[in-house]
Amino acid sequence: MSGHAPWSATAAREVLDGLPPHGRLMLPALQSLQSVFGYIPDEALDVVADVLNVSRAEVYGVLTFYHDLRRTPPPKAEVRLCVAEACQAQGSRALVTEVEQAYGVALGEIGGDVELKEVFCLGDCALGPAAMINGRLLGRCTVESVRLAVMA
Ligand code: FES
Repeated sequence: MSGHAPWSATAAREVLDGLPPHGRLMLPALQSLQSVFGYIPDEALDVVADVLNVSRAEVYGVLTFYHDLRRTPPPKAEVRLCVAEACQAQGSRALVTEVEQAYGVALGEIGGDVELKEVFCLGDCALGPAAMINGRLLGRCTVESVRLAVMA
């Protein structure tokens, strides 16, 4: 994943100041920061708390509650493999093992430029096993199609 601006508190404040009133709610504000910087570092807590006029603890609570909010820079590729029932029936467990072996990283971990995550249904059940790679949905996945999507 690339194309994110380098983190700076000044730039973060500009992002937050530019949000419309409905974007100044905690979750949309954090999502906006992540969209711009790729992640939300701990230094953002004070900025968000100040701009939204909430406590640092409230920001921390929301930031750590939602798994899709990143606190560390994103890897080059985020690979989400579906392990829900329909995909399991179509071989997702074997695919997970193959992908783990191919990248030398287990589900839930970051290895090199790849982060492997499990998800429970991507809404693509008929084309399982399904995966999402850097936000792009992939159906009838094989380890090779995952590898190609990671390199794209
Ligand atoms: S079960 Fe995998 S996409 Fe629905």
